[in-house]
Amino acid sequence: MKRTGTTVILSGIIFILAAALVGTLLYIRNQPAPTRGVAPITEIDRYEADSSIWGENFPNQFTTYQLTGSNQARTAYGGSEAFSKLEDDPRLVTLFAGYGFSKDYNEERGHAQSLTDVRETMRVNETTPGTCYSCKSSNNPGLWSEMGMAQFDKALFMELGAHISNPIGCANCHDPETMQLIVTNPALEEALLAQGKDWRTFTRQEMRTVVCANCHVEYYFAGEGKYLVFPWEDGTRIENISAYYAELGFKDWEHPQSGAPMIKMQHPEYEFFTADSTHYKAGVACADCHMPYTRDGAAKFSTHNVQSPLLNAEVACGACHAEVGYVTGRVATIQAQVRETMDASEEAIVAAIQSIQAAAELASVEADLLAEARDLHREAQLRWDFIAAENSMGFHNPEEALRILASATDLARQAQLKAVLAAGTGAVIQASGQ
Ligand code: HEC
Ligand code: HEC
Ligand code: HEC
Ligand code: HEC
Repeated sequence: MKRTGTTVILSGIIFILAAALVGTLLYIRNQPAPTRGVAPITEIDRYEADSSIWGENFPNQFTTYQLTGSNQARTAYGGSEAFSKLEDDPRLVTLFAGYGFSKDYNEERGHAQSLTDVRETMRVNETTPGTCYSCKSSNNPGLWSEMGMAQFDKALFMELGAHISNPIGCANCHDPETMQLIVTNPALEEALLAQGKDWRTFTRQEMRTVVCANCHVEYYFAGEGKYLVFPWEDGTRIENISAYYAELGFKDWEHPQSGAPMIKMQHPEYEFFTADSTHYKAGVACADCHMPYTRDGAAKFSTHNVQSPLLNAEVACGACHAEVGYVTGRVATIQAQVRETMDASEEAIVAAIQSIQAAAELASVEADLLAEARDLHREAQLRWDFIAAENSMGFHNPEEALRILASATDLARQAQLKAVLAAGTGAVIQASGQ
């Protein structure tokens, strides 16, 4: 009896120890990678904007992040050289006529260049709202907490600039205490809540995409206070976004040639990628391709040299694809096809603009048909721009890119036809001859 009792107690203890061990192992496994290994050397303040201070604890992440400040390589459709998109494609000057993007529109560069680039662009002037700093600096999370986003957005760009001295950095993506990924932009938190989503319940893999949505999204400035809003209330597909703006009666500017109320799309990488792309459906995150695990001696960490994955394809694609040459070849094919389809959309929209302008100049123009033509111009162009302003030349979601561009071309041709009808038969020859 006694022996059995001891055995029971002993095996009980062994069981508890084993369970505790498994529990601990599982716990360690489920911990975000940051807490592994080195103990913190430097205490990091809640909203520390200076990435070099975080870098004292995490030198690998910091030194790879710093590379985004000097990357220069260009790829077929991307890379980090700030070439002028307007020189590359002069049709853009017509498409964005009357708006800042027709004067200055360069290819984007790395995260550590963000502050220099926003201060250099000719699109910024005395009346630019502070909202333009929203996705440019690691000072923001601290400022948002201090002054609130409404006050931040109300301030003028030039005034707010005095409080902003750091480009995008650690504080835009991490909680310094746990090093977990977080939503730092109040506009993202609000947009998710409007859809009934709370990011605090998201999985780690989801956060590896959502953290990029702090900035890589379509947005607009609402009202006099230029309050930052992501137009996602009806959903994040282009059709939802366009319906949202139409309902609101919102426009970024009026096109001087066609007279249409226009919307400029920003950089909807998040919306486009998550619209059921093959990779998204397979559970792949932005960070898988743009911040792949990298080895430096014994250390394994996420490279923070965020750039075109084509410059690092062996690592970026090689983690999942054995045939890296094959998949990068597919990227080239997809991008060339999207570029060609995009050219056709641009030609159709430019033709629509010219026809509308010609019709509007006639005293006898049919006002109703002209208004319909203008609406169609707006709808065509915001669809085209959703793909053009997205930075992967369609790769993030090839089918969606071709679907949207086809719809843009169709709407533009309808706009042209409506303009010709509005002008009456007399102007048909004139308009189509341009
Ligand atoms: C399956 C891999 C993959 C995933 C996942 C992915 N991307 Fe990309 N991304 C690419 C490739 C490939 C390009 C094209 C690069 C080029 O043309 O040089 C690209 C281009 C970009 C660019 C432009 C880069 C440049 O050099 O101009 C940005 C910005 C970007 N992606 C952000 C994102 C964001 C944000 C997400 C998630 C919402 C995401 N990507 C998800 C592979 C990926
Ligand atoms: C705080 C805002 C912010 C966050 C968060 C952010 N980005 Fe960016 N990203 C930018 C801005 C702004 C630029 C353009 C900077 C410039 O041109 O000076 C940029 C540029 C890029 C580029 C182009 C780099 C190059 O060399 O051309 C890639 C790729 C990219 N981001 C991917 C990502 C991915 C992936 C994530 C999420 C892991 C992410 N970004 C999170 C704001 C952000
Ligand atoms: C644009 C967003 C972004 C910025 C800026 C950023 N990180 Fe990260 N960081 C990530 C992502 C995404 C991961 C992967 C997290 C995961 O897998 O859970 C990560 C992971 C980490 C980790 C965990 C270990 C690893 O390498 O996976 C550490 C530590 C870290 N980052 C430190 C830093 C430091 C230090 C800075 C500033 C120099 C910084 N990060 C800036 C997005 C960012
Ligand atoms: C985290 C894993 C992962 C990474 C990293 C990754 N992929 Fe994929 N990729 C997948 C999965 C999963 C599929 C879907 C496979 C399937 O359904 O057959 C896929 C499919 C593809 C396809 C075929 C899509 C189609 O619909 O035809 C291409 C092309 C591709 N990947 C290119 C790339 C490139 C280029 C990179 C690097 C920039 C990359 N992938 C990085 C996991 C990944």
